[in-house]
Amino acid sequence: MRFKYVAVEYFCMTQTQTRLIDGTEVAASIRSELISSVRRIDNTGTTPQLATVLMNDDPASQTYVSMKHDDCEEVGIATRDIEIDPEAPAAELFDTVDELNADPSVHGVLVQMPLPDHVDEREVLRRVDPKKDVDGFHPENVGRLVAGQARYKPCTPHGIQKLLTAANVETEGADVVVIGRSNIVGKPMANLLIQKTDGGNATVTVCHSRSDDLASKTRTADIVIAAAGVPEMIDGDMLSSGVVIIDVGINRVETETGSELVGDVAFESAAEKADAITPVPGGVGPMTRAMLLWNTVKAAAVATEVSIELP
Ligand SMILES: NC(=O)c1ccc[n+]([C@@H]2O[C@H](COP(=O)([O-])OP(=O)(O)OC[C@H]3O[C@@H](n4cnc5c(N)ncnc54)[C@H](OP(=O)(O)O)[C@@H]3O)[C@@H](O)[C@H]2O)c1
Repeated sequence: MRFKYVAVEYFCMTQTQTRLIDGTEVAASIRSELISSVRRIDNTGTTPQLATVLMNDDPASQTYVSMKHDDCEEVGIATRDIEIDPEAPAAELFDTVDELNADPSVHGVLVQMPLPDHVDEREVLRRVDPKKDVDGFHPENVGRLVAGQARYKPCTPHGIQKLLTAANVETEGADVVVIGRSNIVGKPMANLLIQKTDGGNATVTVCHSRSDDLASKTRTADIVIAAAGVPEMIDGDMLSSGVVIIDVGINRVETETGSELVGDVAFESAAEKADAITPVPGGVGPMTRAMLLWNTVKAAAVATEVSIELP
């Protein structure tokens, strides 16, 4: 396999080799660029603040929340960490969200999913003030995204758009196959890619579990974005030479020695065909986290009427 780790800056010079699109590196550069915007807002006497609300006992969710807090600390965003007993009535979560909506020192509100069965997720998403909805999941923000007037782009697809730009992958005129139609990845990804903007202007096919003959679609794609949550379902036989692959999947699979994380793409066989590919871990995941900071800084800038340029 022709494979080499390269820094994003040198991508254009290494066209004969498979390029690794390094999300860890791009995310670190976005975080470092956000620091000056956070300082500018801080200088007005208001520190940007993200509040997270966790209502489950899942260790993975606890880890995700704690990583988000670490990221915030790195760039100077203050955090509020609220945990609610998963057995508590839904009203306790709703009241908490209402309080955070009303608190002017909080600029972003993130309710960590999943929620317990007795809590209606859609009701929670509708409850968060759209101006503080840094996940971009409120129906008002979804509508704005579709209309080409995004307030907050959802973090994972926004991060993917930034990754493609950083890797000098042109989306204009490209045939893109998005695998997955979820509200958090597949649908907003497709919507971003068809906008008449930089990082858009693509021709997008959205596939899902009822799509017929997936391989016939992925083989025609210039860019494949895999977000199905099925370990290594896309292999080299399903791809054309020169394709760019963004692997969103995070799947824990058992191995002889324990377990490991794999994506939705069989990395080695896909890399044989690809011009560029994201690794798992270290591809899309760090970008998702970086774009949450981006949205929080944007929310704080709007609330404080500070004019900033975001990376
Ligand atoms: N790296 C990150 O930052 C990040 C962020 C979010 C999610 N993820 C990962 O990305 C993956 C997808 O997440 P999600 O929340 O979008 O998942 P999801 O809500 O479960 O949606 C999965 C989508 O994939 C489709 N699908 C499932 N099996 C398929 C198959 N065999 N062929 C074609 N389509 C298939 C489903 O189709 P139907 O609609 O027909 O069911 C659905 O639309 C997961 O592994 C998740 O952990 C990673």
